[in-house]
Amino acid sequence: MTQPGIFGLGAPEHCYLEFSLCEGVSPAQLVKAVAGLAGPLSTGGGVNLVVGFRPELWAQVAPADAPPGVQGFTEPIVGADGFQMPATQHDAWAWIAGGDRTSVFNNSRDVIAALIGLATVASEVTGWVYEHDRDLTGFIDGTENPSLLVAPDVALVPDGPGVGASVLLFQRWKHDSDAFRALSVEEQERVIGRTRADSVELDEDVMPATSHVSRTVVEEDGEELKIFRRNTAYGTATEHGTLFVGFSRERRILDIMLRRMAGATDDGLRDQLTHFSTPHSGAYYLIPSVAALVQFAPEDKD
Ligand code: HEM
Repeated sequence: MTQPGIFGLGAPEHCYLEFSLCEGVSPAQLVKAVAGLAGPLSTGGGVNLVVGFRPELWAQVAPADAPPGVQGFTEPIVGADGFQMPATQHDAWAWIAGGDRTSVFNNSRDVIAALIGLATVASEVTGWVYEHDRDLTGFIDGTENPSLLVAPDVALVPDGPGVGASVLLFQRWKHDSDAFRALSVEEQERVIGRTRADSVELDEDVMPATSHVSRTVVEEDGEELKIFRRNTAYGTATEHGTLFVGFSRERRILDIMLRRMAGATDDGLRDQLTHFSTPHSGAYYLIPSVAALVQFAPEDKD
């Protein structure tokens, strides 16, 4: 079974924590501690917890449960006109999602406390749901997201080592909202590739090759490459953006999309959205299946 929180739609409050392994602590110690988190969190508080690891760290501790060849975000992606996507890989990731801010806050504190001495918090950011399903550009985010009936096919390693695991790309994108909102609605729509009011895809004859949709729709052998997105909004009135939380059965698919957005491709076309939103972090995490995690969890005491 996969970690169910990946598909736990509907939670309005989110906290994302990235951790760095403390010096002198073994990766196995960290995996054990993180595997032990699920117990206390599954009762009372009513939150979903999803945990992941730097892919190389997980592969070292659980080689039989690691999809082969998945790497962290170790190098920045350098695209057109010097545009860069930074590589800010850390060792572990925890996502706490729930119905109210208090339970997310309390459970996030519990997660941090349980890892004291093993890992330090490298980044913390809270996410929320803006205008039901819009991101902070004002556009509906998730229209082409696969439904829950097909999302597992898109997000989960289908067989072999690591079956039921998922590869997560976690990026914090800061928006230049003033610049984007200064555009006319038609200009904004050409940046995204969809209409703002109701998210209808632009007709082929007016769809720019540099729109966000054009850069992220990728076909391979006649099949569209799909990912499962759980993005949220983050930040304050003055500083804010999108937390990109994308799950895939293959790291490769996410990487292709990033390179196409950056213009790090033969055509050199850069996603227009990257002129209005800048990535400030970027990391890949391997989200193990529950079965793979459980083998490291401490025995139930009662
Ligand atoms: C600032 C960051 C981002 C924002 C605000 C954003 C916003 C959007 C919006 C508004 C749409 C159109 C509606 C929809 O189908 O969901 C969309 C589509 C999509 N985005 Fe993003 N996105 C961001 C980053 C990314 C990144 C980093 C990736 C991939 C690594 C990505 C992959 C996709 C995909 C695959 C689609 C669906 C395309 C289609 O099938 O039509 N997005 N995004």
